[in-house]
Parts: sequence; C-alpha cells; structure tokens
Amino acid sequence: VLTGAGVSAESGVPTFRDAQSGLWARFRPEDLATEAAFRAHPQRVWDWYAERREKLQRVQPNAGHVAVAEFQSRHPDRLTLITQNVDGLHQAAGSPGVLALHGNLYEDAWLDPCALARRPADACAVTLAQPGHPPSCAQCGNLLRPAVVWFGEDLPQPALAAAQAAAQGCQVMLVVGTSGEVWPAAGLAGLARRAGAKVVVLNPEATALDGEAHALLRGPSAQLLPRLLDF
Ligand code: OAD
Repeated sequence: VLTGAGVSAESGVPTFRDAQSGLWARFRPEDLATEAAFRAHPQRVWDWYAERREKLQRVQPNAGHVAVAEFQSRHPDRLTLITQNVDGLHQAAGSPGVLALHGNLYEDAWLDPCALARRPADACAVTLAQPGHPPSCAQCGNLLRPAVVWFGEDLPQPALAAAQAAAQGCQVMLVVGTSGEVWPAAGLAGLARRAGAKVVVLNPEATALDGEAHALLRGPSAQLLPRLLDF
C-alpha cells in the first residue's frame, strides 16, 4: 500500500494540491519546503512547520488508517505500508514498520554537519530557542530543522530501497490518496506493474497514476479502505 495526503484528509489534515484547501494552493512550496528557503528565512519556515505540528496534535487516525493497521495485525508480514505522509497517523493507528519516504514532521535534524566536530553529526547540542531563531547548537550555531524531505532533497535511502523492493515483490499495489505528482514515490506504482503486480488506485479524483492502474476505485479512503480490507 502506497499512501499520500488524501488518506489523512478525512482526519482533517489538508492535502497539498487540492485546488481550494491544499497547502500548496495557499503557500508557495519554494518559500517553505526547500533548503534554500530555510537558509534564507529559517524562522519563517520553522514557524510554519511548528504550526503544522501543533494542528496535528489535535487530529486522530481515521477509519482508513485503522483499516490498514488492522489488516496488518490480522495478516502479519502480508502488507508493506509505504507513505509519503509526514503526519504520523499511520503509526498512531498502530501500523508497524511504516516506510515513511518523506520523513516525519515530529522529528528534527541538524541542518549541517557540526562545524566543530571531528566525528560528524554527533557533537551538536541544542540550546534553547532564542526569539527569532529556530533552536540552534550552543557551540557552533548549527540550526535544527524539521526532519522532512524538502523539494530537491534525496529520500531516506533505506526506506526508499525497502519500498522499491516491496513494489517489485508484491502481487497487488494499492495506491491511496496521492496525486502521483511527486517522484520518486510516484514511480513505485509503475515499478510494481512492470514487475507483474496488479495496481489499484483509490482516489475520489483522477490522478497522474491512473494510467498504471488495472482498477480505479473512486471514493474517499476512510469509506473504501475498511470495505476493501475487510478479510
Ligand atoms: P497531493 O495533495 O498531491 O494529493 C492528494 C490526493 O488525495 C489527491 O489526489 C486527492 O484527490 C486525494 N484525496 C483527497 N481527499 C481524499 C480522500 N478522502 N480519500 C482519498 N484520497 C483523497 O498529496 P500527495 O500526493 O501526498 O511532500 O503529495 C505528495 C508530496 O507532495 C507530499 O508528500 C508532500 C508534497 O509536497 C513532502 O512533504 C516532502
């Protein structure tokens, strides 16, 4: 199962590309979701992610997340869950081993290797956030950033490799709630199809991956997933 923002829509989490309510309809990704944007305006970008974190504290997994997690618990090791979502709702629903291709909104990472470290990446220590700045290292000034994948950045290699292996080895790939606009995640459907899997796209709207699908299920995932995975 490959999921995108649509699987969390019925939890009240905005998608990215919905023409009215999507985040990228209201904000420019190049202002908020690139390393260059963070370096230019670290506080603005940090605050935007902090606000998303705060809003996500108030949302719960929906029946779609729960249906996937329950299927996994009934059929251990039969379903690999790959998500582009950074909202942690699959994990909150109890799904084990989620391959989170775009990182996790709740985790932070250092922007740069520590400028003072002889051994990389383990020497920075967080100071308290000063007004107007994201949290930074007391010794070298390195900034903390959200541990999400920004445009132009590589995906976490172990998760991507595991996702590609799962796509190539599966019998059925269910593609849920993603526009299929963002690569390399979008490429997993074609990879699965070329390796012989049946591809099922579940989405209320047309997507860029419909051409890869053997079956299209038009509808919202919190309604359709519980029916589809009820065995
Ligand atoms: P998009 O916003 O591009 O697409 C959301 C999809 O969800 C659309 O195809 C909608 O039709 C569909 N959708 C809406 N409501 C739904 C519902 N109730 N049930 C099922 N589907 C529904 O989001 P993604 O494809 O996830 O990157 O976007 C991919 C990446 O682009 C994201 O991971 C994010 C973004 O920039 C990062 O955060 C790195």
